[in-house]
Formats: sequence, C-alpha cells, structure tokens
Amino acid sequence: MAGEGSGAVGEVAAPSSGDDEVVLRPATEADVPAVLALWIDAGAHPTTTDDALSVRAVLARDGEALVVAERRGRLVGTLIATWDGWRGNMYRLAVRPEERRRGIAARLVRHAETRLRAEGCRRVTALVARDDEGAVEFWTALRYAPHPMERYVRTLEAP
Ligand SMILES: CC(C)(COP(=O)(O)OP(=O)(O)OC[C@H]1O[C@@H](n2cnc3c(N)ncnc32)[C@H](O)[C@@H]1OP(=O)(O)O)[C@@H](O)C(=O)NCCC(=O)NCCS
Repeated sequence: MAGEGSGAVGEVAAPSSGDDEVVLRPATEADVPAVLALWIDAGAHPTTTDDALSVRAVLARDGEALVVAERRGRLVGTLIATWDGWRGNMYRLAVRPEERRRGIAARLVRHAETRLRAEGCRRVTALVARDDEGAVEFWTALRYAPHPMERYVRTLEAP
C-alpha cells in the first residue's frame, strides 16, 4: 500500500526466506549482472552509467546504497538511495513488470527513507521520469512533489 512504512531496517538483514515473500537486502557484487538485466527488463530509462563498473562503484562507496527486492532468489526490484550529508538522493527505482502494483517499490522507498532519516537526512530528491505516467503517479502517491529547479547534467571524461 502506498505510504506504508513497512521498510523496517531489520528487514534488510533478513535472509531470503525461500517462500513467496519479497525480501529487501543490500545488493552485493554477485547481484550486479542481475541488477543490470532488471533495469533493461523493467524499461528503466537508460543512462551512461548502466554498466558493471559503475554499479560496483556504488557498492564500494556505500554498501547499503543499492537495495534489491528479492522473491525466491530472483531480483524483482531495485533502488539506489544515497546520502551526501546535504541531501538524500534516489535513483534507479525499478520493479519487474510482472511484479508491479504489489507495493514493492513503495517498500523500497520507505525502507530507504528510514535509513536516510537515521543518518540525519531531512530532504530527499528522487529522479523521476516526467514522461512516465506510472512513475509520476507512484512518486506523487508517496508524497513526493515536483520541484521547479531544473536538473543540469554533464558527463565527465573517464579519468
Ligand atoms: C514506477 C514503478 C517503480 C512502481 O513500482 P510498483 O512496485 O508497481 O509500485 P507500488 O506497487 O509500490 O505502487 C505504490 C503506489 O504508487 C501508485 N502507482 C504505482 N504505479 C502506478 C501506475 N502505473 N499508475 C498509477 N499509479 C501507480 C499507486 O498509488 C500504488 O498504490 P496502489 O497499487 O495501492 O494503487 C514501476 O512501475 C517501474 O519499475 N516502472 C518502470 C521504471 C520506472 O519508471 N522507474 C521510476 C523512474 S522515476
């Protein structure tokens, strides 16, 4: 259900139960190929950093930033949530098409909010595809609102 605060921190540490339950947990190196595949299957907007190196960099910087939702050992959803000391940021929210409207994305976001809040974060920015009606409806349902400031982006050369 939208707005449900079901993302308790302890939930992430829970091992995969093997039954039909959806379990949230931090992603590991072993998940990287499945995460990239899920983003394609979910129709997430492609970005310049959709590669194993970039996802591993997220894991190396903050081992809890990339959270996956898993059912019966299969990844069904993802969210990257980061805290830089000023803002919380959410990226790459994606749920497999056949798993949608079961509250998985809401759980991922509420879980991330719980963690960000515990770390001192008070304001969160979510990257939302404005042309994706479902995404807009989702973030609106979770009480995120559009902000008038534009996002300006530049891709840096590899070092
Ligand atoms: C957007 C997305 C992550 C939602 O995942 P989800 O697990 O289906 O979302 P939830 O089940 O947690 O939805 C929670 C609430 O959000 C709203 N919502 C979610 N998807 C919606 C849709 N397609 N249309 C209208 N409202 C929607 C509803 O209020 C829903 O509650 P309800 O099912 O009780 O009515 C998923 O559709 C997705 O992966 N889309 C493709 C990738 C994408 O757009 N990612 C977001 C980038 S910003």
